[in-house]
Amino acid sequence: MNDLSATPGVKSAEQLERPVVIPPEAYISKDYAAAEQEKLWRKVWLQAGRIEDIPETGDFITYDIGPDSVIIVRTGEDQISAYHNVCPHRGRRLVDTPAGKRNARGNNRKNFICGYHGWTFGLDGKNAYIDQEADWQGCLEGGKSDLGSVKVDSWGGWLWINLDPESGPLSDYLDPASELLAPYELHNMRPRWRKWIVFDCNWKVAMEAFAETYHVATTHPEFMVFGQFRGWARNQGRHSNIGYDTVKDLEEDSGKLRLGAGEDPRLTTAEMQEFTWKNANTNTTMTLVNAAKRLKDELPEGTPAAEVSKHWIQSARAADEARGVVWPVVAPAHTAKAGTAWQIFPNFQIGQAVNNMLCYSARPYGGDPDKCIFEAAVYELYPEGEAPETEWEYTKAEDWPPVLQQDFANMAAVQQGMKNVGFTGAKPNPYMERSVASLHWNLSKYMNAGEPKPLD
Ligand code: FES
Ligand SMILES: [Fe+2]
Repeated sequence: MNDLSATPGVKSAEQLERPVVIPPEAYISKDYAAAEQEKLWRKVWLQAGRIEDIPETGDFITYDIGPDSVIIVRTGEDQISAYHNVCPHRGRRLVDTPAGKRNARGNNRKNFICGYHGWTFGLDGKNAYIDQEADWQGCLEGGKSDLGSVKVDSWGGWLWINLDPESGPLSDYLDPASELLAPYELHNMRPRWRKWIVFDCNWKVAMEAFAETYHVATTHPEFMVFGQFRGWARNQGRHSNIGYDTVKDLEEDSGKLRLGAGEDPRLTTAEMQEFTWKNANTNTTMTLVNAAKRLKDELPEGTPAAEVSKHWIQSARAADEARGVVWPVVAPAHTAKAGTAWQIFPNFQIGQAVNNMLCYSARPYGGDPDKCIFEAAVYELYPEGEAPETEWEYTKAEDWPPVLQQDFANMAAVQQGMKNVGFTGAKPNPYMERSVASLHWNLSKYMNAGEPKPLD
């Protein structure tokens, strides 16, 4: 096995453009996983839920990260607060997660009452009732019996928390992702479905299975009949993004709204859209599928691909507008920069488009480096008041869309493979998988371990 420890690590973002090797410890070591709680999860901004999940005062959700748990509650029309989900009396978790659920969620709360001895807390986190309070001889005053507050902010329609009271603002943290994603108006989208599962791999293995397009040719070969699209991955400070090289004459199409390649782009586009809807149920909407199916009636045979693309997108945009769904306009030059998906450090991926998005996240499970909670959610734009009510649905691997099952098959096998004595570290493609190198470079700054090393 190569001795990586002697090689100095990557020192600059530019070095990520060169081949690197990532030591396997970050994925498989119990000590590394234990250290993550203190050095990583308690330091970073974490996406903890959607604003629309708590529309009214007194509505709340919980969010767990390892042993830590947070209550996020709407405390007013324009005000959201977050508290450590633990009773300051003797440490009972204040709000329990119902069995089999991803998190707790409730409406119209006036207060939170601990189930052990009844200490009661207002929406402002202040203690409002202690049974036999006089027994403490006045010593619980001055906030000692209040809930501990947690930093919370919002961006993109999500609620973000940070367990570190000393952390900088969310807006600085998200830079430049927030700026490049702003034109997509992600806060207007609502979930079509949300699924989660406890999976047999490290959370990084799960995130990385979706953070690059290099795997598509082999893992999802059925997509290749629709054409070869070469993808890039870029470091963006703490974050990274991925996208596709612009195809000549199809600059308008440099996002995810892809034409099928083939003899007749009218037909292959429809086939690709129907295939995607059925087998992935991501990255498209019924409006786009239907507009693709109409292409053969609306355009003559022999229409060049660029025109098919333009017509398809215009026709879908018009169909949505007719039902009150207005897509934002994003210039092709911006799409080329923003790409198709962002990896928000450390564990959230946003796959954005003008009318839908696909998001993934993964968190540790039970302190075990070989397990994670994996989540995926698909969002789109709905007419006012018509968004479906969705819940996080625990979904067994075999019940996920087939394309995702193909990714799952890699995830558990990577986790096993990386423990093999013969494995010398991950060697991500410097162009197509730079997102993987970027993640570990950024992780190493928090963890003081696991730096990618130059491969040459
Ligand atoms: S632990 Fe909460 S009231 Fe006793
Ligand atoms: Fe995949």
